[in-house]
Amino acid sequence: MGYFEILIVFFSLVFFCLFFQNKNGLPTNWPLVGMFPEILKNVDRIHLYLVEILEKSDLTFIFEGPWFTKMQLLVTIDPANIHHVMSKNFQNYPKGSKFNERFDVLGDGIFNADFVVWQYHRKMAQFFLGHPKFNNFLVKKTLKKAENGLIPVLDHVSTLGIQVNLQDLFARFTFDAGCTIMMDHDPNTLSVDFPVNPSSKALDDIEEVIFHRHVVPTCVWKFQRWLNVGKENKYKKAWKTLDSFIYKCITAKREDIINNNQKEDNEVCTDLLTLYIKDDENLKTPIGYQGDKFLRDTVLTNFIAGRDAISITLSWFFYILSKYPEVASKIKKELDNIVIDWTNVKEMNSKLVYLHGALCETMRLYPPIAFEAKTSIASDILPSGHQVNPNMLIVFNLYAMGRMKSIWGDDCNEFKPERWITKQGNIKHEPSYKYFVFNAGPRTCLGRDMAFIQMKIVAATIIQNYVIEAVQEQRVVPNVSIFLHMNNGFKVRVFRRPS
Ligand code: HEM
Repeated sequence: MGYFEILIVFFSLVFFCLFFQNKNGLPTNWPLVGMFPEILKNVDRIHLYLVEILEKSDLTFIFEGPWFTKMQLLVTIDPANIHHVMSKNFQNYPKGSKFNERFDVLGDGIFNADFVVWQYHRKMAQFFLGHPKFNNFLVKKTLKKAENGLIPVLDHVSTLGIQVNLQDLFARFTFDAGCTIMMDHDPNTLSVDFPVNPSSKALDDIEEVIFHRHVVPTCVWKFQRWLNVGKENKYKKAWKTLDSFIYKCITAKREDIINNNQKEDNEVCTDLLTLYIKDDENLKTPIGYQGDKFLRDTVLTNFIAGRDAISITLSWFFYILSKYPEVASKIKKELDNIVIDWTNVKEMNSKLVYLHGALCETMRLYPPIAFEAKTSIASDILPSGHQVNPNMLIVFNLYAMGRMKSIWGDDCNEFKPERWITKQGNIKHEPSYKYFVFNAGPRTCLGRDMAFIQMKIVAATIIQNYVIEAVQEQRVVPNVSIFLHMNNGFKVRVFRRPS
C-alpha cells in the first residue's frame, strides 16, 4: 500500500471515530461491537462508571451490545421506573427464563419462580419466615453464635495482637448462623483455627460462576457446561457438594422428627426446616409434590438470600465506622442507654434508632445486592418515557442509585445516619422504590426484620466489647459481582474494651 492509500485509510478512520463518538459523555454505540468496548475499558470500576453514566443520562440509559448478539439492556435507577416495573405493571416484568437458567442451582425456589409457582412460595415463605417459633429460634441461636463463636475469636485475635479479615469473619458467622437457623446444624466455621468448609466454599464457587454467566455470552457458558470444563465444571462440583450437605441435613431432620428426637423445645422455638417438614402434606406446589427437592430448594434459596447480604453489610458497616469514630461512639451511647431485650424483635428494630439509621445508611452507599434484573413480556413505556420492547432485560444498579444527587440530595456521598431519623426521634421510612435495597412491590424481601435483628446483635456485641482499628496499608474497594463484596476483604486489629 502506498503513502496515499495509508493516508486515506487513516483519515477515514479518524472521520469514522469522530462521526460515531458520542459527544455527551455517554458510551459510543460503535458499528458491529456496540458499546461493548466502553464497558470492557471500565469493567474494573464498573460501579463508579455506572454512577457517571446514569447521572449524565438522567437515571436511565440503553446499553447496546454487539450487533450480532442483538443484546439491548435498559439500565435504570429512576424511582418512578422502579415503582412502575416492580409494582404498577408487575405482571409484565417476571424474572424470566434467562434468570432461571443462570440461577438453575436454586431449582424451583422462590428466587427462581414466577407467576403461580412464585405466589405459592411467597405465601409459604411469608408464613414460615414470620412464624413466632422461628423468630424465637433465630434470636436465640444468633445470640448463642455471638457468645460462643464471635467473642472467642475476637478475644483470640485481640490477645495475640494479630490482624483479622473482618469480611471473612462475618461470612463465617452468617454461614454458621444460617445453617443453624435453617436446619439446626452448626458447622462451626467461626473458630480460632479458621477451618475451610466444603459447603461454604461451594456457595462461594456457585456465586462466582453465576456472575460469570451474566458477563459472557450465553452460548459460551452453555458450551462450557456441555463440555463440563472451566468454571462450569467448578459449578457442577459445587452443586454436588451442596446437594449432598443439604439432603443429609434433611434426612437427619426427618429421622429426628419421627423419633421425636428434637433438640429444642418445639413449642416455642423451631428451625425453618422442621416447620416446613411438619407441614409436609401442604408441600404440593403448582408443579406437583416435590418432597425433599422442595425442601432443598427452599433451604438453599433462603441461605443464599441471607448469608451474603448480612455479612457484606456488616463488613461495610465496620469499614465506615473506622472512618467515622464519632458514629461508633453515638451507637455505643445508644446501646448503653437502652434496656436490651433481643427476644422482642419489633421493639429492638424500632428502639435502636441511631444504629438502625447507621445500618440503613451503610446499605444505601454499599447495597449488598448491587444489581437486580427483570425481563419484559410485552412492550411498554416507562414513566421516564423510555420504550421497552418485548423480552428486554431491565437492569437496576443499586450502587449508583444510592449515590445520585437527584434522589438523595447534594450530600448523597456523605454518611449520615441522621438521614434516617425523624424530628420526633423515630426511624424515618423511605419508599422502597427510592430505597430499593430490599427490593420493592410484591417481591419485597421477606427477611428484612430478621436481617436487621441479626446485624444489630453482631454490631452491638462488637461495639460494646471491642474497639476495631482498620489496618492502614490496604485499599478497600467493592469487587465486580452481583454481591458487593470487598475485593480483598477488610483487615483490622481488635482491642478489648476495659470492663
Ligand atoms: C441485609 C440483608 C438482606 C438484603 C439487603 C436483602 C435483599 C433482598 C433483595 C434485593 C431481594 C430481591 C432479589 C431478587 O428478586 O432478585 C430479596 C428477596 C428475598 N429475600 Fe432478602 N435480603 C436480605 C436478607 C434476607 C434474609 C435474612 C432472608 C431470609 C432468609 C431473606 C429472604 C428473602 C426472600 C425469601 C426473598 C424473595 C422474595 C420474592 O421473590 O418474593 N432476605 N432480598
